[in-house]
Amino acid sequence: MSAQPQAASPSVVPSRTKTTVLTFQEKRQRQQPISMLTAYDYPTAQAADAVGIDALLVGDSLAMVVLGHPNTLQVTMDEMLHHARAVSRGSRHALLIGDLPFMSYQAAPEEAVRNAGRYLKEAGLDAVKLEGGQAMAETVRAIVRAGIPVQGHVGLTPQSVHALGGYRVQGRDASGARAILDDALALQDAGCFSIVLESVPARVAAYVTARLAVPTIGIGAGPGTSGQVLVLHDLVGLYDGLAPKFTKRYADLGQVLRDAIATYRAEVESGAFPTREHGYAIPELEWQAFLSAVAAAPSSEAARALPKPVAGTR
Ligand code: KIV
Repeated sequence: MSAQPQAASPSVVPSRTKTTVLTFQEKRQRQQPISMLTAYDYPTAQAADAVGIDALLVGDSLAMVVLGHPNTLQVTMDEMLHHARAVSRGSRHALLIGDLPFMSYQAAPEEAVRNAGRYLKEAGLDAVKLEGGQAMAETVRAIVRAGIPVQGHVGLTPQSVHALGGYRVQGRDASGARAILDDALALQDAGCFSIVLESVPARVAAYVTARLAVPTIGIGAGPGTSGQVLVLHDLVGLYDGLAPKFTKRYADLGQVLRDAIATYRAEVESGAFPTREHGYAIPELEWQAFLSAVAAAPSSEAARALPKPVAGTR
């Protein structure tokens, strides 16, 4: 009988080495798509790392999908660091990128360098990401000069939601598309190792990708970028806010979670949980000794107030 070839499970990955910014460049050159995903805690970082995701972004989308804010503006650097440390503990191979939150880098390049440094020093991450194009070039230069790899982010930049008038697709007209190209080129020139293109028409994203020497990572930017990123909670169905058109839901963990919690509640209320298998036993001899001791010396008020024990109870 000949052995049937086994289909490789996507959750089984060959052993691998740590992804670095050089791996990003190598994959771009070999035209191998780069996989990137957001992660905000230890278990999700572990899961993503175990199945071979190239890069994990501790995204400021954390503000919305984990902390319940209406947008990304309110999350602080300290909150981001708290989650970044958990992601760092859960990941061994992925390139770890920390998103610089709103107002941690816009006011002054020196402040940007300090906050970027905190991700590496206090959380063990490998790189940072910030939003904005030409206006951020000087800041990118300053962070890169400090030895910290920077990923840029152009197109729809959610931290500018108020300036943009909402979460809108960017680069849909000739001048908007030109601005995205110029922004991406300025960021590359400033030293970015990679650039995220968010909510950009697929043709524009593919054109920008072809013009750049550094890899682009798309989200809502079509298949022509060097890699893709999604927000984990959109991918697994854990966020009940409005999901953008570009996300793809691979699982409905929200429903799985609700079902599990509802079953637990029903079992607690019916007495079906816990059963003997969820508890601990005391050896019979010790139990009898305990009952005898209490009966012989019911010393304290508390002991006297206890209901009479039933022999043999576990
Ligand atoms: O914060 C985030 O999740 C992001 C991705 C959408 C790229 O910036």
